[in-house]
Amino acid sequence: MTFSERLEELEKAVIDRLELSSTLGELEELKAEYLSRKGKFSLLLRELKELPAEEKPKAGESANSLKKKLDELLQSRLLAFKEKGQKTPEEFFDFTLPGHRSWEGKHHPLTQVLDRIIEIFYGMGFEVAQGPDIETNYYNFDSLNFPQDHPARDMQDTFYLANDLILRTHTSPVQVRVFEKKNPPVKILAPGRVYRHEAINARSYCLFYQVEGFYVDEGVTFADLKGVLVAFVKEFFGKEVELRFRASFFPFTEPSAEVDIRCIICKGKGCSVCKYRGWLEILGAGMIDPEVFKAVGYDPEKYTGYAFGLGVDRIAMLKYRIDDIRLFYENDLRFLRQF
Ligand code: DAH
Repeated sequence: MTFSERLEELEKAVIDRLELSSTLGELEELKAEYLSRKGKFSLLLRELKELPAEEKPKAGESANSLKKKLDELLQSRLLAFKEKGQKTPEEFFDFTLPGHRSWEGKHHPLTQVLDRIIEIFYGMGFEVAQGPDIETNYYNFDSLNFPQDHPARDMQDTFYLANDLILRTHTSPVQVRVFEKKNPPVKILAPGRVYRHEAINARSYCLFYQVEGFYVDEGVTFADLKGVLVAFVKEFFGKEVELRFRASFFPFTEPSAEVDIRCIICKGKGCSVCKYRGWLEILGAGMIDPEVFKAVGYDPEKYTGYAFGLGVDRIAMLKYRIDDIRLFYENDLRFLRQF
Protein backbone atom coordinates (compact mmCIF):
# COMPACT_ATOMS: atom_id res chain seq x y z
CA MET A 1 0.00 0.00 0.00
CA THR A 2 1.38 3.41 -0.87
CA PHE A 3 1.73 6.15 1.68
CA SER A 4 -1.20 8.11 0.30
CA GLU A 5 -3.38 5.00 0.30
CA ARG A 6 -2.55 4.49 3.93
CA LEU A 7 -3.46 8.13 4.68
CA GLU A 8 -6.82 7.54 3.00
CA GLU A 9 -7.39 4.40 4.99
CA LEU A 10 -6.67 6.22 8.23
CA GLU A 11 -8.96 9.09 7.27
CA LYS A 12 -11.78 6.66 6.63
CA ALA A 13 -11.23 4.85 9.91
CA VAL A 14 -11.32 8.11 11.87
CA ILE A 15 -14.43 9.38 10.14
CA ASP A 16 -16.22 6.05 10.69
CA ARG A 17 -15.38 6.14 14.37
CA LEU A 18 -16.51 9.76 14.62
CA GLU A 19 -19.88 8.79 13.23
CA LEU A 20 -20.22 5.95 15.71
CA SER A 21 -19.20 7.95 18.77
CA SER A 22 -22.11 9.10 20.84
CA THR A 23 -20.44 10.22 24.06
CA LEU A 24 -17.60 12.51 25.02
CA GLY A 25 -15.83 9.52 26.49
CA GLU A 26 -15.82 7.75 23.12
CA LEU A 27 -14.48 10.86 21.40
CA GLU A 28 -11.67 11.09 23.97
CA GLU A 29 -10.79 7.47 23.27
CA LEU A 30 -10.78 8.09 19.53
CA LYS A 31 -8.51 11.08 19.98
CA ALA A 32 -6.09 9.08 22.10
CA GLU A 33 -5.99 6.18 19.68
CA TYR A 34 -5.55 8.11 16.46
CA LEU A 35 -4.63 11.75 16.95
CA SER A 36 -2.50 11.90 20.09
CA ARG A 37 1.30 12.10 20.11
CA LYS A 38 1.59 8.35 20.27
CA GLY A 39 -1.49 7.69 18.16
CA LYS A 40 -1.80 5.90 14.85
CA PHE A 41 -1.40 9.11 12.84
CA SER A 42 1.94 9.93 14.45
CA LEU A 43 3.14 6.39 13.77
CA LEU A 44 2.27 6.78 10.11
CA LEU A 45 4.15 10.10 9.88
CA ARG A 46 7.33 8.36 10.98
CA GLU A 47 7.27 6.43 7.73
CA LEU A 48 7.61 9.66 5.75
CA LYS A 49 11.36 9.63 6.03
CA GLU A 50 11.58 6.28 4.25
CA LEU A 51 9.95 7.67 1.12
CA PRO A 52 12.10 8.65 -1.91
CA ALA A 53 13.28 12.31 -1.60
CA GLU A 54 11.14 13.54 -4.51
CA GLU A 55 7.90 12.18 -2.99
CA LYS A 56 8.49 13.57 0.49
CA PRO A 57 7.28 17.18 0.06
CA LYS A 58 3.94 16.21 -1.46
CA ALA A 59 3.30 13.37 0.92
CA GLY A 60 4.20 15.60 3.86
CA GLU A 61 1.82 18.26 2.68
CA SER A 62 -1.13 15.93 2.29
CA ALA A 63 -0.40 14.34 5.67
CA ASN A 64 -0.41 17.76 7.32
CA SER A 65 -3.64 18.84 5.73
CA LEU A 66 -5.31 15.56 6.66
CA LYS A 67 -4.20 15.98 10.30
CA LYS A 68 -5.60 19.48 10.28
CA LYS A 69 -8.90 18.29 8.81
CA LEU A 70 -9.30 15.45 11.29
CA ASP A 71 -8.40 17.66 14.27
CA GLU A 72 -11.01 20.17 13.18
CA LEU A 73 -13.67 17.49 12.70
CA LEU A 74 -12.94 16.09 16.10
CA GLN A 75 -12.95 19.53 17.75
CA SER A 76 -16.28 20.51 16.26
CA ARG A 77 -17.79 17.19 17.32
CA LEU A 78 -16.40 17.63 20.84
CA LEU A 79 -17.85 21.13 20.98
CA ALA A 80 -21.24 19.94 19.83
CA PHE A 81 -21.33 17.27 22.55
CA LYS A 82 -20.26 19.72 25.23
CA GLU A 83 -22.94 22.16 24.19
CA LYS A 84 -25.47 19.40 24.71
CA GLY A 85 -24.17 19.21 28.28
CA GLN A 86 -22.14 16.03 28.11
CA LYS A 87 -19.24 15.61 30.49
CA THR A 88 -15.93 13.84 29.96
CA PRO A 89 -15.18 10.95 32.35
CA GLU A 90 -12.75 13.23 34.17
CA GLU A 91 -15.32 15.94 34.67
CA PHE A 92 -17.93 13.46 35.65
CA PHE A 93 -15.88 11.55 38.23
CA ASP A 94 -14.10 13.57 40.89
CA PHE A 95 -11.02 11.54 41.70
CA THR A 96 -10.06 13.93 44.49
CA LEU A 97 -13.09 13.18 46.66
CA PRO A 98 -12.38 10.95 49.68
CA GLY A 99 -13.61 7.35 49.29
CA HIS A 100 -16.44 5.81 51.27
CA ARG A 101 -15.24 3.37 53.93
CA SER A 102 -17.62 0.54 54.60
CA TRP A 103 -17.51 -1.23 57.97
CA GLU A 104 -18.15 -4.93 58.15
CA GLY A 105 -20.45 -6.10 60.95
CA LYS A 106 -19.03 -8.79 63.23
CA HIS A 107 -19.97 -10.81 66.25
CA HIS A 108 -18.63 -9.90 69.67
CA PRO A 109 -15.49 -11.95 70.49
CA LEU A 110 -17.33 -13.75 73.30
CA THR A 111 -20.10 -14.70 70.87
CA GLN A 112 -17.52 -15.98 68.40
CA VAL A 113 -15.94 -18.18 71.08
CA LEU A 114 -19.33 -19.33 72.33
CA ASP A 115 -20.40 -20.26 68.79
CA ARG A 116 -17.22 -22.26 68.27
CA ILE A 117 -17.67 -24.13 71.58
CA ILE A 118 -21.27 -24.97 70.70
CA GLU A 119 -20.23 -26.11 67.23
CA ILE A 120 -17.63 -28.52 68.63
CA PHE A 121 -19.99 -30.11 71.18
CA TYR A 122 -22.81 -30.19 68.65
CA GLY A 123 -20.52 -32.40 66.58
CA MET A 124 -20.31 -34.77 69.58
CA GLY A 125 -24.09 -35.12 69.82
CA PHE A 126 -25.03 -32.41 72.36
CA GLU A 127 -28.27 -30.46 71.99
CA VAL A 128 -28.55 -26.85 73.13
CA ALA A 129 -30.89 -25.85 75.97
CA GLN A 130 -31.28 -22.68 77.99
CA GLY A 131 -32.49 -21.64 81.40
CA PRO A 132 -33.49 -18.28 82.88
CA ASP A 133 -30.94 -15.73 84.15
CA ILE A 134 -33.26 -15.02 87.10
CA GLU A 135 -33.39 -18.18 89.18
CA THR A 136 -34.81 -19.37 92.45
CA ASN A 137 -32.69 -20.46 95.37
CA TYR A 138 -34.07 -23.92 94.78
CA TYR A 139 -32.68 -24.38 91.27
CA ASN A 140 -29.47 -22.49 91.81
CA PHE A 141 -28.53 -24.12 95.15
CA ASP A 142 -30.94 -26.53 96.93
CA SER A 143 -31.60 -28.92 94.07
CA LEU A 144 -27.87 -29.04 93.39
CA ASN A 145 -27.18 -30.28 96.89
CA PHE A 146 -25.63 -27.07 98.26
CA PRO A 147 -25.86 -27.12 102.07
CA GLN A 148 -27.87 -24.29 103.67
CA ASP A 149 -24.73 -22.64 104.98
CA HIS A 150 -22.67 -22.94 101.79
CA PRO A 151 -20.49 -19.83 101.30
CA ALA A 152 -21.61 -19.40 97.65
CA ARG A 153 -25.08 -18.48 98.93
CA ASP A 154 -23.60 -15.58 100.83
CA MET A 155 -24.71 -12.07 99.94
CA GLN A 156 -21.15 -11.39 98.87
CA ASP A 157 -21.35 -13.88 96.03
CA THR A 158 -24.97 -13.86 95.00
CA PHE A 159 -27.13 -11.04 93.75
CA TYR A 160 -30.38 -11.37 95.67
CA LEU A 161 -33.58 -9.99 94.15
CA ALA A 162 -36.97 -9.93 95.85
CA ASN A 163 -39.01 -13.00 96.89
CA ASP A 164 -36.40 -15.72 96.92
CA LEU A 165 -35.27 -14.80 93.43
CA ILE A 166 -31.59 -14.43 92.57
CA LEU A 167 -29.42 -13.92 89.51
CA ARG A 168 -28.01 -17.35 88.77
CA THR A 169 -24.41 -17.75 89.89
CA HIS A 170 -23.74 -20.61 87.45
CA THR A 171 -25.39 -22.52 84.58
CA SER A 172 -25.67 -25.77 86.56
CA PRO A 173 -29.38 -25.14 87.47
CA VAL A 174 -30.17 -25.83 83.79
CA GLN A 175 -29.29 -29.48 84.55
CA VAL A 176 -32.16 -29.72 87.04
CA ARG A 177 -34.59 -27.86 84.78
CA VAL A 178 -33.86 -30.28 81.93
CA PHE A 179 -34.00 -33.41 84.16
CA GLU A 180 -37.45 -32.36 85.41
CA LYS A 181 -38.79 -32.30 81.86
CA LYS A 182 -36.95 -35.16 80.17
CA ASN A 183 -36.02 -38.70 80.97
CA PRO A 184 -32.59 -40.13 80.11
CA PRO A 185 -30.82 -40.26 77.80
CA VAL A 186 -30.16 -36.51 77.92
CA LYS A 187 -27.10 -34.95 76.31
CA ILE A 188 -27.28 -31.19 76.65
CA LEU A 189 -25.17 -28.09 76.26
CA ALA A 190 -26.44 -25.01 78.11
CA PRO A 191 -24.65 -21.74 77.38
CA GLY A 192 -25.53 -18.56 79.24
CA ARG A 193 -24.76 -15.58 81.41
CA VAL A 194 -24.05 -15.91 85.11
CA TYR A 195 -23.69 -13.23 87.80
CA ARG A 196 -21.56 -12.85 90.88
CA HIS A 197 -21.34 -10.11 93.42
CA GLU A 198 -17.56 -9.93 93.39
CA ALA A 199 -14.98 -7.18 93.43
CA ILE A 200 -14.38 -6.12 89.83
CA ASN A 201 -10.83 -6.34 88.57
CA ALA A 202 -8.83 -7.58 85.57
CA ARG A 203 -9.65 -11.22 86.41
CA SER A 204 -13.24 -11.06 87.62
CA TYR A 205 -16.35 -9.23 86.57
CA CYS A 206 -19.90 -9.11 87.99
CA LEU A 207 -21.18 -11.14 85.06
CA PHE A 208 -19.60 -13.64 82.73
CA TYR A 209 -20.46 -16.60 80.51
CA GLN A 210 -20.48 -20.31 81.16
CA VAL A 211 -21.28 -23.35 79.10
CA GLU A 212 -22.76 -26.24 81.02
CA GLY A 213 -22.61 -29.70 79.47
CA PHE A 214 -24.14 -32.89 80.80
CA TYR A 215 -24.92 -36.40 79.72
CA VAL A 216 -27.08 -38.89 81.62
CA ASP A 217 -27.79 -42.44 80.54
CA GLU A 218 -27.22 -46.02 81.66
CA GLY A 219 -23.54 -46.78 82.02
CA VAL A 220 -22.04 -43.30 81.55
CA THR A 221 -18.56 -43.22 83.15
CA PHE A 222 -15.82 -40.81 84.11
CA ALA A 223 -13.89 -42.14 81.11
CA ASP A 224 -16.67 -40.77 78.83
CA LEU A 225 -16.31 -37.39 80.54
CA LYS A 226 -12.56 -37.40 79.98
CA GLY A 227 -13.09 -38.41 76.37
CA VAL A 228 -15.32 -35.47 75.45
CA LEU A 229 -13.25 -32.92 77.35
CA VAL A 230 -9.96 -34.06 75.80
CA ALA A 231 -11.61 -34.03 72.36
CA PHE A 232 -12.98 -30.53 72.97
CA VAL A 233 -9.71 -29.03 74.20
CA LYS A 234 -7.70 -30.50 71.31
CA GLU A 235 -10.25 -29.27 68.80
CA PHE A 236 -10.44 -25.78 70.29
CA PHE A 237 -6.83 -25.07 71.28
CA GLY A 238 -4.97 -27.47 69.01
CA LYS A 239 -3.69 -31.06 69.15
CA GLU A 240 -0.49 -30.24 71.00
CA VAL A 241 -2.23 -28.77 74.08
CA GLU A 242 -1.91 -30.99 77.17
CA LEU A 243 -4.54 -31.20 79.88
CA ARG A 244 -4.73 -32.59 83.39
CA PHE A 245 -7.56 -33.54 85.72
CA ARG A 246 -7.20 -32.41 89.33
CA ALA A 247 -9.38 -33.80 92.13
CA SER A 248 -11.76 -31.13 93.40
CA PHE A 249 -15.10 -30.68 95.10
CA PHE A 250 -18.56 -29.50 93.99
CA PRO A 251 -21.76 -30.24 95.97
CA PHE A 252 -23.52 -31.61 92.86
CA THR A 253 -20.81 -33.98 91.57
CA GLU A 254 -18.96 -36.92 93.08
CA PRO A 255 -16.18 -37.45 92.23
CA SER A 256 -15.35 -33.92 91.04
CA ALA A 257 -12.45 -32.56 89.07
CA GLU A 258 -11.05 -29.35 87.74
CA VAL A 259 -9.37 -29.38 84.36
CA ASP A 260 -6.24 -27.41 83.58
CA ILE A 261 -4.53 -26.96 80.25
CA ARG A 262 -0.78 -26.51 79.86
CA CYS A 263 -0.28 -22.74 79.63
CA ILE A 264 -0.62 -21.86 75.96
CA ILE A 265 1.42 -18.68 76.43
CA CYS A 266 4.61 -20.07 78.03
CA LYS A 267 4.03 -23.77 77.19
CA GLY A 268 4.41 -24.63 80.88
CA LYS A 269 7.67 -22.85 81.62
CA GLY A 270 5.92 -20.31 83.84
CA CYS A 271 4.70 -16.79 83.03
CA SER A 272 2.52 -14.05 84.49
CA VAL A 273 -0.63 -15.41 82.75
CA CYS A 274 -0.41 -18.81 84.50
CA LYS A 275 1.07 -17.17 87.60
CA TYR A 276 4.23 -19.29 87.14
CA ARG A 277 2.28 -22.51 87.63
CA GLY A 278 2.53 -23.65 84.01
CA TRP A 279 -1.16 -24.66 84.04
CA LEU A 280 -4.46 -22.79 83.54
CA GLU A 281 -7.83 -23.84 84.92
CA ILE A 282 -10.61 -23.83 82.31
CA LEU A 283 -13.47 -25.88 83.77
CA GLY A 284 -15.04 -27.82 86.60
CA ALA A 285 -16.56 -31.26 86.07
CA GLY A 286 -17.57 -34.51 87.66
CA MET A 287 -20.05 -37.38 87.92
CA ILE A 288 -23.49 -36.09 88.85
CA ASP A 289 -24.25 -36.73 92.53
CA PRO A 290 -27.04 -39.26 93.26
CA GLU A 291 -28.67 -36.58 95.45
CA VAL A 292 -29.33 -34.48 92.34
CA PHE A 293 -30.95 -37.46 90.61
CA LYS A 294 -33.16 -38.12 93.62
CA ALA A 295 -34.46 -34.55 93.59
CA VAL A 296 -35.69 -34.95 89.99
CA GLY A 297 -36.93 -38.53 90.28
CA TYR A 298 -34.15 -40.24 88.27
CA ASP A 299 -33.20 -43.66 89.61
CA PRO A 300 -29.55 -43.36 90.76
CA GLU A 301 -29.21 -47.14 90.68
CA LYS A 302 -30.04 -47.18 87.00
CA TYR A 303 -28.52 -43.99 85.62
CA THR A 304 -25.18 -42.27 85.86
CA GLY A 305 -24.10 -39.05 84.24
CA TYR A 306 -21.35 -36.52 83.97
CA ALA A 307 -21.48 -32.72 83.98
CA PHE A 308 -19.00 -29.97 83.27
CA GLY A 309 -18.99 -26.17 83.37
CA LEU A 310 -16.69 -24.17 81.12
CA GLY A 311 -15.69 -20.56 81.74
CA VAL A 312 -16.20 -18.89 78.36
CA ASP A 313 -14.51 -15.59 79.19
CA ARG A 314 -11.47 -17.43 80.51
CA ILE A 315 -11.23 -19.47 77.33
CA ALA A 316 -11.66 -16.36 75.16
CA MET A 317 -8.95 -14.56 77.12
CA LEU A 318 -6.56 -17.44 76.55
CA LYS A 319 -7.40 -17.78 72.89
CA TYR A 320 -6.94 -14.09 72.12
CA ARG A 321 -4.37 -13.39 74.87
CA ILE A 322 -6.44 -10.74 76.57
CA ASP A 323 -5.32 -9.87 80.08
CA ASP A 324 -8.36 -7.93 81.33
CA ILE A 325 -11.88 -9.44 81.37
CA ARG A 326 -13.47 -5.97 81.58
CA LEU A 327 -12.57 -5.32 77.94
CA PHE A 328 -15.34 -7.74 76.93
CA TYR A 329 -17.98 -5.61 78.63
CA GLU A 330 -16.91 -2.06 77.86
CA ASN A 331 -17.78 -2.25 74.16
CA ASP A 332 -14.94 0.03 73.17
CA LEU A 333 -14.94 -0.11 69.36
CA ARG A 334 -11.15 0.10 69.25
CA PHE A 335 -11.15 -3.26 71.04
CA LEU A 336 -14.10 -4.87 69.24
CA ARG A 337 -12.84 -4.02 65.75
CA GLN A 338 -9.85 -6.28 66.27
CA PHE A 339 -11.93 -9.46 66.10
N1 DAH B 1 -21.06 -24.65 88.37
C1 DAH B 1 -19.66 -24.64 88.70
C2 DAH B 1 -19.19 -23.20 88.91
O1 DAH B 1 -19.81 -22.30 88.46
C3 DAH B 1 -18.86 -25.23 87.57
C4 DAH B 1 -19.10 -26.69 87.43
C5 DAH B 1 -18.38 -27.60 88.16
C6 DAH B 1 -20.10 -27.18 86.60
C7 DAH B 1 -18.58 -28.94 88.03
C8 DAH B 1 -20.33 -28.51 86.48
C9 DAH B 1 -19.55 -29.40 87.21
O2 DAH B 1 -21.26 -29.04 85.70
O3 DAH B 1 -19.78 -30.74 87.08
O4 DAH B 1 -18.19 -23.01 89.53
